[in-house]
Amino acid sequence: MKQKIKSRFNAASSSYESVSSVQKECAQILAAKTLEFARGFVPNSVLDLGAGTGYATEAMLKYYPDASYTLNDIAPSMLEMAQTKFPKFGFCLGDMEEIDFGMHDLIIANLSLQWLSDLEAFLLKLNKSAKVVVCSCLLKGTFAEWEELFCYYSTPSPLKDYPTEKEISELLTAIDGYIEVKDFSVAFENAKSFMKYLSNLGASASHIEMPFAKIKEIVTSNNGPFVVTYKVGFVVFKGDLNN
Ligand SMILES: C[S@@+](CC[C@H](N)C(=O)[O-])C[C@H]1O[C@@H](n2cnc3c(N)ncnc32)[C@H](O)[C@@H]1O
Repeated sequence: MKQKIKSRFNAASSSYESVSSVQKECAQILAAKTLEFARGFVPNSVLDLGAGTGYATEAMLKYYPDASYTLNDIAPSMLEMAQTKFPKFGFCLGDMEEIDFGMHDLIIANLSLQWLSDLEAFLLKLNKSAKVVVCSCLLKGTFAEWEELFCYYSTPSPLKDYPTEKEISELLTAIDGYIEVKDFSVAFENAKSFMKYLSNLGASASHIEMPFAKIKEIVTSNNGPFVVTYKVGFVVFKGDLNN
């Protein structure tokens, strides 16, 4: 699955910014939440996990222009796009679940954590590696309209099983953090345009192999306007390094 995620995002690096308005807005919300949650905190070092083309770093720079930034991503082409924007920053290519990044004052991750194999273990690891952690993550309910279509055709959903708000809230009580949820709607001409959108975003990797004929049937029978919902959890917590 990690290989698929890497190759889909890699292939989408040049189209990503033309379709990622929700991701860009989430990056701006993430930066505003950091400022609100950690008043008076000025990080010397910022680590952006699953940085993609660098939206979250770009948003943080407005508030913390003097920090040193390190950007990580599993997809080399995504990181190359970020590198053209921020040639002087540090870059770390690879799977964030496998890398030891050391300690950072602030760790941010905008809409990348839902791709991980073990989110709970990873958040606990972040808790030990930063003073403040701020991230956004897709939650169960994201693209529910797409799932419903597959359910109607008695076909397994190609979507990843996103965590629920309750699961993340329970985990956060152990590490003294909080989650806020916000929905975003995006309208498409039809189901086929939504599929194209997922592919342009790089977010089309699935844990199942779907027969092409089945997808074609589902998509062509839904030729009218198609609106999807993003359910995004914004998660903030202070790490152990404060103690
Ligand atoms: C939806 S994009 C978000 C990119 C960026 N954070 C933004 O704000 O636009 C998700 C990113 O996470 C990266 N990613 C997914 N799994 C990863 C992993 N295990 N380690 C590092 N990066 C990962 C993808 O390559 C992709 O660039």
